[in-house]
Amino acid sequence: MKNQRILLIIGGGIAAYKALELIRRAQDRGYEVTVVMTKAAAQFVTPLSVSTLAKGKLYANLFDPHEEMDVGHIRLSRQADIVVVAPATADLMAKMSHGLADDLASATLLANDRPVLIAPGMNPKMWDHPATRRNRAQLVEDGVHFIGPMSGEMAEANEAGTGRMAEPAMILDAIDGLLGPLRHGPLSGKHVLITAGPTHEPIDPVRYIANRSSGKQGYAIAAAAHAAGADVTLVSGPVQLGAPDGVRLVTVETARQMKHAVVEALPADIAILCAAVADWRTTQEADKKQKKDGSGKPPILELTENPDILLYVSREAEPRPELVIGFAAETDHLIEHATAKRQRKGCDWLVANDVSQEGVMGGDTNAVHLIRDQGIDAWPKADKQAVADRLVEEIIQHFQ
Ligand code: C5P
Repeated sequence: MKNQRILLIIGGGIAAYKALELIRRAQDRGYEVTVVMTKAAAQFVTPLSVSTLAKGKLYANLFDPHEEMDVGHIRLSRQADIVVVAPATADLMAKMSHGLADDLASATLLANDRPVLIAPGMNPKMWDHPATRRNRAQLVEDGVHFIGPMSGEMAEANEAGTGRMAEPAMILDAIDGLLGPLRHGPLSGKHVLITAGPTHEPIDPVRYIANRSSGKQGYAIAAAAHAAGADVTLVSGPVQLGAPDGVRLVTVETARQMKHAVVEALPADIAILCAAVADWRTTQEADKKQKKDGSGKPPILELTENPDILLYVSREAEPRPELVIGFAAETDHLIEHATAKRQRKGCDWLVANDVSQEGVMGGDTNAVHLIRDQGIDAWPKADKQAVADRLVEEIIQHFQ
């Protein structure tokens, strides 16, 4: 899967801190991000945090022999599908409009032949200054795309007007828009239905049965499928995660609501059911909070089985998704239990995760086996997003 690449140039303005979120969200949407920071930008946000988020792809110095040897300012922009300047300061805009090239950021912009999107962020007086107005007009004439700036409160006390940098999500929508015609992706035209997170099964108005699922794995798969061009519906139980960009999110609480949402979202080409659906719910939800009655005898909860959504999608849904993938969280006899589960549920692939390992349930990493007709693959323990990317990669290959 080839990701689209953004070269992000961070200028030295107070909005530079938002560039961190921009990098994260761009990665969530499946973009690869390489960063150039100006010297001034390093006064507002540390190169270490930028480099960590950008996985080391940070360049700062035009005259650094290592950096030039590694990539060079000419190749930097040539390797990108789009160059984004955020925040674009008055100074950077002036350099761009005059073709100055005395640092890596401006030299890269001058050597660039890719589309350029700038997100200006500066004091309103600077934005309004005749010099900036001239530069703006010149940049528009040169074919540079603008997003923002926005009006409203500025970082400086008692300053209002136009000059606030656009929010990262808006900048990303603009990038999507500009690269839209290129955004096909190997899963374009496919509807991918994903379940994620736990379910909550009420006992009474204040208590419920739940589990430790964080939803991270399912959300990461949704982001990866979207990045591969799929049309994604994510049916999610209660979690502490934001909706991945570009994904249709349906939130539910109980297993029965989840099943209903899944039925509503079908048909799908691919179903990936990774929700940790509660197996049981109480036979009767009390309509009032249960109280201790002083007898010392706790109430007995009578449980009944929840609908099995995976079983339904695999064996009953009409039309059945071409590829149904189930998950199995096991604490012991992983392969044996998971293989039996695959048979019982009737899914095509089963991703077995070893939740006895520390940090898997609710954590950021996962250790999985992929069980299919053609055999069992053990994947090394990895970040949940890396597991998601690899699973989506396997799906792409399956459909080729
Ligand atoms: O039976 P068990 O819960 O271990 O099976 C796990 C797999 O079945 C997961 O893919 C899970 O999303 C799915 N499942 C379901 N509905 C249920 C129980 C599990 O879709 N009620």
